[in-house]
Amino acid sequence: MIEESFAKQLAYSELEEHKIRWNHTEHVVALAKRLAIHYGMDSRKAAVAGYLHDATKYWSIKKMKSVISAYYSNDFISSWPEPTLHAVSGAAFARSNGVEEEDVLLAILFHPTGRKQMSLLEKILFVADYAEESRAFENKDIAKTAFVDLDKAVYDILQGKMSHLSRHSEKISSNSLEALAYYQNLMNGGME
Ligand SMILES: [Fe+2]
Ligand SMILES: [Fe+2]
Repeated sequence: MIEESFAKQLAYSELEEHKIRWNHTEHVVALAKRLAIHYGMDSRKAAVAGYLHDATKYWSIKKMKSVISAYYSNDFISSWPEPTLHAVSGAAFARSNGVEEEDVLLAILFHPTGRKQMSLLEKILFVADYAEESRAFENKDIAKTAFVDLDKAVYDILQGKMSHLSRHSEKISSNSLEALAYYQNLMNGGME
């Protein structure tokens, strides 16, 4: 089990030259911890996942792929659009630094795409990454929604991300497409 302070140090050593990203990271951690406490889960896990989620964001694709290959197959990463690869290298980087808690690793892994049937920790990081207050776009309502209905916040974010990606003709991950269908069904009263 790794401590919040260790995760903070580790992330800072990768991001100290990227002030905006570090600021984003600290805001993600703060919101993720508040959500974790609100929903009665271990805020240390939320903090560790929050600190490490973008730690490898500025690595070259080559470096990302090399750390990824130690833990994940080529098949596994073939469906991940390039802008989301930093999540896979982030999870691999966390593993290589002693993070063994599977739920923390999965939260890092799916933070940009989401997926269907996310765990509470996955949803918390997914929402905190998008709705933290330093983000430029309008997201205050989503942060508020997250404290009332976390699944609705997840659904709103998936919709926002999809329309952004479509507008920019960017590749949409199959995980996101499945997640959108799943949470849409949930919003329509479907079974979890
Ligand atoms: Fe990210
Ligand atoms: Fe992020």
